[in-house]
Amino acid sequence: MSEQAERKQRILSGIQPTGTFTLGNYIGAVRNWSRLQEDFECLYMVADLHSLTVRQEPAELRRKSREAAAMLLAAGIDPAVSLLFVQSHVPAHAQLSWVLSCNTQFGELSRMTQFKDKSAKHADNVNAGLFTYPDLMAADILIYNADLVPVGVDQKQHLELARNVAQRFNNLYSPTFHLPEPYFGSTGAKIMSLQEPEKKMSKSDTNANSFILMTDDADTILRKCKRAVTDSDGVVRAGEDKPGVTNLMSIYSSLTGKSFETIEKEFEGQGYGAFKEAVAGSIIDAFRPIQAEYARILADKAYLDGVLRDGAAAASRMADRMLAKVYKKVGLLQL
Ligand code: TRP
Repeated sequence: MSEQAERKQRILSGIQPTGTFTLGNYIGAVRNWSRLQEDFECLYMVADLHSLTVRQEPAELRRKSREAAAMLLAAGIDPAVSLLFVQSHVPAHAQLSWVLSCNTQFGELSRMTQFKDKSAKHADNVNAGLFTYPDLMAADILIYNADLVPVGVDQKQHLELARNVAQRFNNLYSPTFHLPEPYFGSTGAKIMSLQEPEKKMSKSDTNANSFILMTDDADTILRKCKRAVTDSDGVVRAGEDKPGVTNLMSIYSSLTGKSFETIEKEFEGQGYGAFKEAVAGSIIDAFRPIQAEYARILADKAYLDGVLRDGAAAASRMADRMLAKVYKKVGLLQL
């Protein structure tokens, strides 16, 4: 087999350090990231530059960046196997994003639904970074020639833009960037709000009972599960007419590996009380070892910073090579 054929496909993904990860982040992204390490060459990034598109409290952003990295490690990302780094530690991302932005049209960026949503939400701060956000994300991906990008549906349009910009650049100059594909793989279910199960679980929800954080203690998890909205029919069964119960079943199924059918049988003839306790138990069991590891890593700043330093150095070597290629192609003088 040629070396090319043997090479594992490369995955890149990023997560913003704007808060503690939720159960939804865990089942939908973080947990899968650690699983992908076996089959792919993985690069994982704390996207701190993207967070600047919304006002951040500086000390808090710094702390959250470390916490995000610690949580990713605690959840199983192995720095001996994958690269874990902070986006701003690899300056080539921002440098490439400038070149890409000069090859992206105002109209294209104006059509991004996330830009429209976010500028409506933060009407007092519709900054240029919010507008060119997709070019930075494109740079994150294209600079490593990533084959696959695990993203949620909300980022699909940005990935599409990255592909279009890459294609355009390749046509205008010469083949440079690999066109990345979205990776949905065996991602877990989309986890909904515990209070309004029609909405995605989000840490920015004003009602703290609607989400579970990866740092919540056992009592809090139990309380939030017990308060979760269900219905008056009292039967543990999945269905479009039962969004609350279905969401709890998705959580339980994702964490225990049990099918919906098995779960329905398990709780046959029992009310929601026992079911909710079991759901809480599955979350507590999943988070217990991660929380212990998270506390240990956060307390060992030297270790954590060492991992991030090594990750950034290795990522920079790859990224700088691509940046030099691009700079040369577009005609920037190199001495
Ligand atoms: N924009 C992504 C989000 O908010 C985070 C992100 C930044 C990302 N760069 C990326 C995701 C590159 C995938 C690939 O969720």
